[in-house]
Formats: sequence, structure tokens, C-alpha cells
Amino acid sequence: MKVKRARTGLVITAATILLAALLTRYYWPARINESIDQPLPEYDSEALMRFDGTDPNKPIYLALDGLVYDVSMGREMYYGPGESYHYLVGRDASQPLHVFGAEIIKKKYQVVGRYR
Ligand code: HEM
Repeated sequence: MKVKRARTGLVITAATILLAALLTRYYWPARINESIDQPLPEYDSEALMRFDGTDPNKPIYLALDGLVYDVSMGREMYYGPGESYHYLVGRDASQPLHVFGAEIIKKKYQVVGRYR
């Protein structure tokens, strides 16, 4: 009886972990940018340049595959002036990001516009 109860507990725990993993993998990443069907402001290369992180009072943007992402959350660690990925911001960084990082950007950061 005790063994059966322990096994049931294990199954419930495993199912909960699996469900949480599935939700994180498929539901949460989709939600962060669920508003991209809505109209978004458009940025060209000149407009994007104004969000390259050199002004601490402005957000930091980069373009990837036609969308503009707000990466300000990574200012201190990656994108501010002097940080290792500063060269990716204020511009269309699709090419280098397809070497590494595109999936991280798409999952982690909010879309704030379209790149034209
Ligand atoms: C073309 C080359 C590369 C590009 C464009 C690139 C770009 C990126 C981007 C955009 C991120 C996401 C940062 C964020 O969370 O906002 C990232 C994360 C990271 N990169 Fe690179 N990367 C490159 C090469 C490398 C190399 C050669 C290394 C190691 C020697 C490296 C190590 C890392 C690590 C460890 C992270 C994860 C940091 C974390 O999430 O804690 N990257 N990279």
C-alpha cells in the first residue's frame, strides 16, 4: 500500500514537471510577442540608430528578421557601450545573430516595431 502511494506521488510529480516544462517551452515564449499581429511602429536604419545604447535615457533596440526588439534589459551585461554585444544594437543584426543568438533574442525580448 505504501509503495503504491509512493509511486502515485512520483507519477504526479513527474507529470507536473513535464507539464511545467511544456508550458515554459511552448506557451510562455509564444506569449511574450503575442501582440505582433497588431500594428507596430516602423523603423528604418536611420531611426534604429537612435536606439544604440549611447543615450542612457533611451531604450536599446536591434532588428532581427524584420522585427525590432527592445534589448534594454541586457544593457549592463551585453549591449551598453563597451559591452561585448554593443555592435549588434541600433542596427539590423540579422546576419551575425544567425551565427548565434537569434533564438535567444526571439524568446527573451519584446518586439516593439517592424524594420523596413
Ligand atoms: C557571431 C558570434 C556571436 C554572436 C552574434 C553572439 C550573440 C549573442 C547574443 C545575442 C546572446 C544573447 C544575449 C542576451 O541574453 O541578451 C549571446 C549569449 C551568449 N553568448 Fe554569444 N554570440 C557570439 C559568439 C559567442 C562566442 C564565441 C561565445 C563564447 C566564447 C559566446 C558566448 C555566449 C554566452 C555564454 C551567452 C549566454 C549568456 C547568458 O545567457 O548568460 N558567444 N550571444
